[in-house]
Amino acid sequence: MNKHSAPIEIATLHTPTRHDSGHKHVTGTAEYIDDMVEPEGTMHAYLALSSRAHAEIVSIDLTAVKAAPGVIGVLTDEDIPGENDISPSHFHDEPIFAIGKVHFWGQPLFAVIGETREAARRAAHLAVVEYRDLEPMLDVRAAQAGGGKVVAPPLALQRGEVEAALAAAPRKVEGSIAIGGQDHFYLEGQIAMAIPGEDEDVTVHSSTQHPSEVQLMVAQVLGIRQHAVTIVVRRMGGGFGGKETQGNLFACVAALAAKKWNRTCKIRPDRDDDMTATGKRHDFVVDYRVGYDDSGKIHAVDAVYAARAGFSSDLSGPVTDRALFHADNAYWYPAVRVRSEPLYTNTVSNTAFRGFGGPQGMVACERWIEEIAYALGKDPLEIRKANFYGTDSNNVTPYHQVVEDNVIHRVVSELEASSDYQARRQAILAFNRENTVLRKGIALTPVKFGISFTATWYNQGGALVHLYKDGTIQLNHGGTEMGQGLYVKVAQVVADAFGVGLDSVKIMATNTSKVANTSATAASSGTDLNGAAALDACRQLKERLTAHAAKLHQVPEEAVQWVQGGVQAGETFVPFGELCASAYHNRVQLSAAGFYKTPEIHWDRGSGRGRPFYYYAYGASVSEVTIDTLTGEYVVDRVDILHDVGKSLNPAIDLGQVEGGFIQGMGWLTSEELVWDGKGQLRTHAPSTYKIPLASDVPPVFNVRLAEWSSNKEAVIGRSKAVGEPPLMLAISVVEALSMAVASVADYRVAPRLDTPVTPERVLMGVERMRGARR
Ligand code: MTE
Ligand code: MOS
Repeated sequence: MNKHSAPIEIATLHTPTRHDSGHKHVTGTAEYIDDMVEPEGTMHAYLALSSRAHAEIVSIDLTAVKAAPGVIGVLTDEDIPGENDISPSHFHDEPIFAIGKVHFWGQPLFAVIGETREAARRAAHLAVVEYRDLEPMLDVRAAQAGGGKVVAPPLALQRGEVEAALAAAPRKVEGSIAIGGQDHFYLEGQIAMAIPGEDEDVTVHSSTQHPSEVQLMVAQVLGIRQHAVTIVVRRMGGGFGGKETQGNLFACVAALAAKKWNRTCKIRPDRDDDMTATGKRHDFVVDYRVGYDDSGKIHAVDAVYAARAGFSSDLSGPVTDRALFHADNAYWYPAVRVRSEPLYTNTVSNTAFRGFGGPQGMVACERWIEEIAYALGKDPLEIRKANFYGTDSNNVTPYHQVVEDNVIHRVVSELEASSDYQARRQAILAFNRENTVLRKGIALTPVKFGISFTATWYNQGGALVHLYKDGTIQLNHGGTEMGQGLYVKVAQVVADAFGVGLDSVKIMATNTSKVANTSATAASSGTDLNGAAALDACRQLKERLTAHAAKLHQVPEEAVQWVQGGVQAGETFVPFGELCASAYHNRVQLSAAGFYKTPEIHWDRGSGRGRPFYYYAYGASVSEVTIDTLTGEYVVDRVDILHDVGKSLNPAIDLGQVEGGFIQGMGWLTSEELVWDGKGQLRTHAPSTYKIPLASDVPPVFNVRLAEWSSNKEAVIGRSKAVGEPPLMLAISVVEALSMAVASVADYRVAPRLDTPVTPERVLMGVERMRGARR
């Protein structure tokens, strides 16, 4: 046996196992693209960005740029052999370099290629650009006033007779809520390094969640075929949706330069430019009309979800669709009509961000729950419970899918008990009666999130597993690692399948030449798709090895048992390494490609009907806050979470996802504010002005638990559930708790209607409104 191997870490599924790169993350030895050894002669690219939100480009004078020290050359529209387009949609509306017109402040005009990054970066500012200004349309309300031009066809979901139900409802509320966007603030910014090969070949190391799309884009832009392009991704320093499409630009610019000069080219924008030039979470304005009755039961919902899409389609169609898919959160609407408006604006093209529109849909939904509660003088939790999906045939969503796996009642009642919600709420009501300056709030909110890509064809995964003669394993699959722990989970699946230690499984960088035509690692489905595909590959290999062991030891196949460390063939134990070696000598193939596709799902966008989601993930949280009514400042004192991940494949990773998702959601809903000025320039483009949560913002009491009793359907790997995105929406309880604290100022008789992010300014303005309402 190998005396050099470390003590075997037994990697059974469902046991807490640390992230495979955790020790490298904390010691700084995990290799990111910027850490890679640069090949001899590596060039560096830098983008020149527009300084107008909407203008015709009259002329660009590049003389000074080209003459600057260390400049190798410039890439413009004219250097693109293929298409000047990197749009992930079929609208072809996203040029690499602006042509004739700029549509947002920060749009790339050209790229400078330099001997050093510094040389390219300095020279990028030396162009003389003459613009003819056009009127910019900057936000949702301006876009609606300007005729409501959309970047993709809107969606409408409808069930029942909405107008009739609204007219007949005993009570009605009408309003609107503005929900802010969010910058991804991945710690590793966008980056790509392209290495030219012979003929048309090019290999790009790209920080992307979607290597196959980058491959397609590079081929399209270079005017070559896909088989010439290889994309490699070992890991990202965070993606959060911000690298689902936004990596395309950087990979294509690096590849263009690499092929033009036949030298490696690397591109990495500064944080300011990254924030200015790449898309973010969509901000929404939701206009709603809701009919309900004296018991708080909702009768009808009619709402329009308008989103600032930016200048191009990007993923705005699917993102606004997913907002509608979560317009119900965990609640049944007897009659409903929801419509999306992905609006064209002269701002950066907004994109995927953890939850993909779902969070915005849910925030709006929780707003009308709260409206109803304050109008009726009840605890919003009562209204929530009164409207939860049941378990009967009425359990139909606005998109006509029946909810079959509803566990929200159990999740909420367990959390209500474990967090001592009722007693704490009474104590807070008493506290608020006695205190004028400090006020407290508490709220419990549910999450029900649909799992599967709504683009049905994306719900497939692939893997390629190699066994070597010493019993070691190389694992390739189509998913990418961005810190979420996908790699370790899939490695656990493989180690568990063969009964070997995790150290026997080498996790390979994601590579389009190993597994082709991969889906984006997104929609939280990375483990579901790639874990199942890897298991399929293992199953094939185990079948071959079982047959081989049976033959070799002359026992029936049924007498071959897979045990820890090898197989038991009748009386004989064969260590896994020996089994692989003897299989090789007997010409048994030791590589297998695995595949998985999600069963049962279908979606017809035209009719707004189908079964887009294979299952739902559930969760609930309770947040308690204290506000200062004189300044609007606040603290989140305590948070309790119960989240459903089915049968967890790795409780350590899953808890990390729940905690991280919650904190990222809290940042979105409280302190992270994107501000564009009147001219359309983003003014919050660095951590000095854009406030992400710090370690010190983690609530002092933070009780996070997984619903250990939960279990998913058999077809999902290990009966687990996707965990990546759903926990972000648990943070809505912070908004609702802040709302309660503000509402206390007017004796909880009016809903404070706080827009998000609920910054201290908004809390203070809310308190002022409540003081007015009291008089
Ligand atoms: N966790 C970390 N640490 N870093 C990330 O970039 N992205 C989130 C989530 N959790 C992200 C993360 C998003 S937006 C998604 S869709 C999922 O992880 C993607 O990975 P999965 O499908 O493997 O869960
Ligand atoms: Mo996640 S927004 O689906 O990348």
